[in-house]
This record gives sequence, structure tokens and C-alpha cells, in this order.
Amino acid sequence: MDVATAIRTRRSHKLFAGDHVDDATLAELIELATWAPNHRFTEPWRFTVVPHPALPSLIAAIAEAMRGPDGELSDKARTKLHKITGIIAPAGAAIAVRQALATDDAERLREDYAACACAIQNMQLAAWSRNIASYWTTSDAIMGPKLSAFWNLQANEQMVGVVVLGTPAAEVKAVRYKRAQDLTIWLPAPVPSE
Ligand SMILES: Cc1cc2nc3c(=O)[nH]c(=O)nc-3n(C[C@H](O)[C@H](O)[C@H](O)COP(=O)(O)O)c2cc1C
Repeated sequence: MDVATAIRTRRSHKLFAGDHVDDATLAELIELATWAPNHRFTEPWRFTVVPHPALPSLIAAIAEAMRGPDGELSDKARTKLHKITGIIAPAGAAIAVRQALATDDAERLREDYAACACAIQNMQLAAWSRNIASYWTTSDAIMGPKLSAFWNLQANEQMVGVVVLGTPAAEVKAVRYKRAQDLTIWLPAPVPSE
């Protein structure tokens, strides 16, 4: 699959078919993620891999985080957990991208966050070109503060996203309301002098 096709046809998928994504493929996706642009060669990305056999431990950690002060799951939490379990259990693996916060310089932090976002896009496109679907989640239920220990988030890091990967179980339609040309300002080219 060429790059343009991968970019145009990649969609966020949440319906997975239950197949594993093998460790070698996961390692390759991470290696490809690390080729993303990053200003000043900060390489701010860090990764936590949940291979398929460990996905039940992710679901258990999510469930634990949803418990109220009484240790019980509310009806709302139970419904949400059921939905999340339906997505994650048949997935092939999940990879969290953590950002190293190596500085308190706001510009550098912004650049490093942008670099981590590029790394996630690399990962999703590389996966899709190998027929592996994915979606990027920033859901509090999956990567909020109560899940920090599960993801091995370090004191000087922040979560950027979790990419859930797997064999797609259904087609997903593209949604784009805007046309690129309506979002673009072209500056006039200089008129050549005679
Ligand atoms: C920063 C970021 C956070 C996202 N968080 C979520 C999320 O929490 N849950 C979700 O279902 N999708 C999430 N998405 C995926 C978007 O919803 C998805 O990209 C969008 O609907 C466009 O669909 P497409 O990826 O198929 O083009 C996120 C995407 C980005 C860039």
C-alpha cells in the first residue's frame, strides 16, 4: 500500500475480530513510530505495550478505576465498562504513547507533544498498511490518572494516547465535512517581470 492510499483509507476502527497482533509486528510499529519528526532530536516518545494475552489485565485495571468510593460499580460505570470491554477484548493489542516531560519550557513541551502525535500517526498508518486497523483514544477511562500505574507512567511523563489495534471486523465509512481547498489560503505567486 502506498503512503497516499494508507493516509486516505485509514479509519478509526473499534470493531475487532479477535486476532492477536504478534510481538514482532508490534515492535516494528513502534520502531516506525520513532521515525516521526521531532524538534531538537528530543525523541520524547515512550511506549507501553499490552500484547493480546495481557488485554484482560487492561480491562481489569479499567474496571478497578471505575469503582466508586464504596468499591462498587454504578450502573453507568457498568454500562461504560461493558462497552469498553466489547472493544478491547477482541482487539489484537494496545500501545500507549507516553511523552517524556524533560523540561518546563512551554514551547519545547508543545513541540514534544506534537512529535508524539506524529509518532501515533506513523504507527496507525504503518499498521493499516499491514491490514491492522486501529483507533487512538484519549479516554479518561482508558488512560486517566487512575490508570497511570497500569501504563507505567513515570513521574516526568504524560500520556498522549492509547492506540488499540487489531484485525478489522467491519468497514468504517470516512467522515469529512470540509474540503481541503476551502481550508486553504494560497498566496499569489510573484508575477514575473518582463
Ligand atoms: C487526539 C485524539 C484523540 C482521540 N480520542 C478518541 C477517543 O477517546 N475515542 C475515540 O473513539 N476516538 C478518538 N479519536 C479518534 C477520532 O475520533 C477519529 O480520528 C475521528 O473520528 C476521525 O475518524 P478517522 O480516524 O476514521 O478519520 C481521537 C483522535 C485524536 C486525534
